[in-house]
Amino acid sequence: MKRRIGILTSGGDCPGLNATIRGVAKAVYHQFGDDAQIIGINDGYFGLINNMCKEMTPADFSGILTTGGTIFGTKRTPFKMMQVVEDDKVDKVKEMKATYKKQKLDCLLTLGGNGTHKTANLLSEEGLNVIGLPKTIDNDIWGTSVTFGFHTAVGTATDVIDRLHTTANSHGRILCAEIMGNKAGWLTLYAGVAGGADIIVLPEIPYDIEKIAETCVKRNEAGKKFSIIAVAEGAFDKKEAKMKKKERAAKRAEAGITTATTRIAANIQNMTGYETRVCVPGHMLRGGSPSAYDRVLATQFGTYAAKLIADENYGRAVAMIESRVGSNLLKDVAGKTKFVPQDDQMVLSARALGISFGD
Ligand code: F6P
Repeated sequence: MKRRIGILTSGGDCPGLNATIRGVAKAVYHQFGDDAQIIGINDGYFGLINNMCKEMTPADFSGILTTGGTIFGTKRTPFKMMQVVEDDKVDKVKEMKATYKKQKLDCLLTLGGNGTHKTANLLSEEGLNVIGLPKTIDNDIWGTSVTFGFHTAVGTATDVIDRLHTTANSHGRILCAEIMGNKAGWLTLYAGVAGGADIIVLPEIPYDIEKIAETCVKRNEAGKKFSIIAVAEGAFDKKEAKMKKKERAAKRAEAGITTATTRIAANIQNMTGYETRVCVPGHMLRGGSPSAYDRVLATQFGTYAAKLIADENYGRAVAMIESRVGSNLLKDVAGKTKFVPQDDQMVLSARALGISFGD
């Protein structure tokens, strides 16, 4: 039986997208041989809306296991706008369904994070055969213990913290590393532990600046000339925790504050007198070649998606569930975020070491 399989990557990229695409493709060609036709869709849902499709050949998937980025390109097409007709008068959902039909797809694979899963679920509810694969350096997708891209980013962020250690030590400074993670702090937590940060600040654990300053002072009194603070970009303090997102943003804009990290650094310097600097690795955390772990994970996820295709088991989100690759119903995971629980084992380990969460 012929299978025409559409694949797209949507949202922020991460290492391991190409390894996952390759995993799907190789397994699909292996199972269906010449009956398989993969259609690459460029630039995520934008490409699906605009029929930006290309028939791929097996050779297109060679040599991409180790490469960063995505061979299909990606774009952010926010879920909240999917059912809104904007000035261009395009009915996005209608157009995506039209492309699916025009390309005679039997199924659509969407590689992405939370927003991608939400649109995937919407398309599934609209009657398309959809399978989601969990990508993000943020590791915040509900129903899977791990997402591909996360471990590579942990490695990169850990390297940043390692490098900050030596220079912080030389100068006797406080160094704040701002780590990506707008909503969830997994990446900061893991890199903070792996890099031996002294203070870890997460969106899930609102901070008190007095506590952070206290930790720095105590370290100094104990003879430690420097401190390393790992801050998730989406962190906020205890006062801000009581505010809605918009109010928080407005208050920060009013005070001329861009991020929690810059504010923490300025406050710590004022309160303690210690020289303090900020380092923002930013998109470097999303770049580069996937780690061996992510290549393996991506391959497992990709081949599992091929099995779901063979079984015609659609409306699923591939996931790591209790250390085994499996899947959840898309509708059960779409729209939910996996935050760091207060009693997460890694949080408890960090606390056991004496790492402060500034709370
Ligand atoms: O979704 C992953 C992520 O890396 C977030 O941690 C970060 O806030 C965001 O992407 C930034 O993405 P962009 O600059 O591509 O909009």
